[in-house]
Amino acid sequence: MSESTGSRPALDLEAFPPSFAWGTATSAYQIEGAVAEDGRAPSIWDTFSRVPGAIDNGDHGDTACDHYHRWREDIALMKELGTDTYRLSVAWPRVVPGGDGPVNKAGLDFYDRLVDGLLDAGITPSVTLYHWDLPQALQDRGGWTVRETAEHLAAYTTAVAERLGDRVTRWATLNEPLCSGWIGHLEGRMAPGLTDLTAAVRASYHLLLAHGLATRALRAAAPGARIGLVTNHSTVAPASDRPEDLAAAARMDGHTNRWWLDPVYGRGFPTDMRELYGVELPEKPGDAELIAAPLDWHGLNYYFPVTVADDPEGPVPHAREVRLPDVPRSGMDWQIDAGGLEALLLRLTEDYGVRELYVTENGSAFPDTVGPDGAVHDPERTGYLEQHLAACARAVRKGVPLAGYYAWSLLDNFEWAYGYDKRFGLVHVDYATQKRTVKTSGRRYADVIRAHREATAG
Ligand code: IFM
Repeated sequence: MSESTGSRPALDLEAFPPSFAWGTATSAYQIEGAVAEDGRAPSIWDTFSRVPGAIDNGDHGDTACDHYHRWREDIALMKELGTDTYRLSVAWPRVVPGGDGPVNKAGLDFYDRLVDGLLDAGITPSVTLYHWDLPQALQDRGGWTVRETAEHLAAYTTAVAERLGDRVTRWATLNEPLCSGWIGHLEGRMAPGLTDLTAAVRASYHLLLAHGLATRALRAAAPGARIGLVTNHSTVAPASDRPEDLAAAARMDGHTNRWWLDPVYGRGFPTDMRELYGVELPEKPGDAELIAAPLDWHGLNYYFPVTVADDPEGPVPHAREVRLPDVPRSGMDWQIDAGGLEALLLRLTEDYGVRELYVTENGSAFPDTVGPDGAVHDPERTGYLEQHLAACARAVRKGVPLAGYYAWSLLDNFEWAYGYDKRFGLVHVDYATQKRTVKTSGRRYADVIRAHREATAG
C-alpha cells in the first residue's frame, strides 16, 4: 500500500522495511542550555559565541531550548510524533569538563536519566559522542591540531560507554568531521574560528584518528555496541563541461567527500588531495588501520548539492561555488535537490560498500511563525521532507540498505553561526517562553510514520 493525503504526492512507503527506524535528531550545544550547571565547563562554542560578530545577533547557547531541564517534555513530543528513535549527542564538557582527567558524575547522570526516559517511552537512543563541543581546556592545548585530543576523546568515550553501554547500542563517534575540520579550521566560520590550512589538515587527520580510537574504546567498553560514523556530503556538479570546471568539481568532491570517506573505508587519504593541500599528515604506524576499523553502519547527513567552477586564485580546493538561478532554495539559501540524497546513498552503497545506512540528518530551515490560530504552517518544509523521503524510497528500491531516517531537527535550535533565526525544527520553539508547537511538517511526519506501520504490519 502506498500512502497519500489529499493532493500530496504518494510516498512509496512499502519500499521501507518493517523494521525501518523513524527518528529525529538534535545535538547537545544546540538544545541543552544549562552551560554552567552541574559541573559543565566551557566548550569551544561557548568561547566562539562570545567573539564579536561570530554569531548572528550575538546569539549563544546559554539557554538554547532549555532541554537540560525540559527533556521530559521533549520526549513527550517525540512520542507525539510517533518516532522510534532519537539521535542525541553527549556534551564532552559535561562529562569530562577538563577534556581529560576526572569524570564528572553529575554530567553522566543527566544522560543516564535521558536514556532511561527514552527507553521508558519506547524510543531507541542513538548516541553521538562528539558533535563539535570540544572542551575549551583542550583547545587551549592545541585542540584538534594535536594528537592528544584524539586520545582524550577515546578516554571520554570509555567513560560514557561504561555508564550507558548497558542500555545504548547505537553509537556514533563523530558528527560531520568535515565541519570541525574545514569550517572550523580553514574557513573560520565555526569554532574554533581558524583560517589556517596546516591546522585544518592536521585537525582533519586527528578527527578521523579520534574516530578510530573511539571505535576501539567502544568495542572494549560496550561489546554489544553497533558503531557508526556520521559524515555530511554533497553531490558536486561542474558549472560547465570546460576541463577546468570538471577538474574543479573533482577537487571539490575530494575535499567534501573522498577525504572523509576513503580513509575510513580502507583506501587511505586520497593522493590528489594530499598533493593539493601540500601539508604533511601526522601519520604514525597503525593509524591507517585504526581509522579504517570495521563499522556496523554509516550515517549520512544530507542537505544540498553544490555546483562549482574553477577558481585558481581562490582558497583550497580552488573551486568556487556557483549559485544556480531559478532553483528552489531553503531559508539557508541552500539549493533543494532530493536527487542528491538518492545519489549519495547509492554511492555509499555501491562505491564504498556500506552494508547498513542511516540518514542521520536531513531537513530545512524556513522562517516559521506561529499563526493567529496558534499553529505553525510550514508547507515548504513539509514538501522538503516528502521529496527527501521519496528519494530514500527510490534508493531502497535500488538496493540501498537504508535502516532509518532521522529528521533534522526535533526542535528549532541554535543553528551555530546563524544563531536562532534559522529554524530547522519539526517543532517550533518560542525562545522567550520555551513553548513548543508541533509544526504542520511534524504532523505530516507523524502521518508518514503511522502509514508506514500500517502498510508493513504483518
Ligand atoms: O544544525 C546542523 C547540525 O548541527 C549539523 N548538521 C547540519 C545542521 C544544519 O545546518
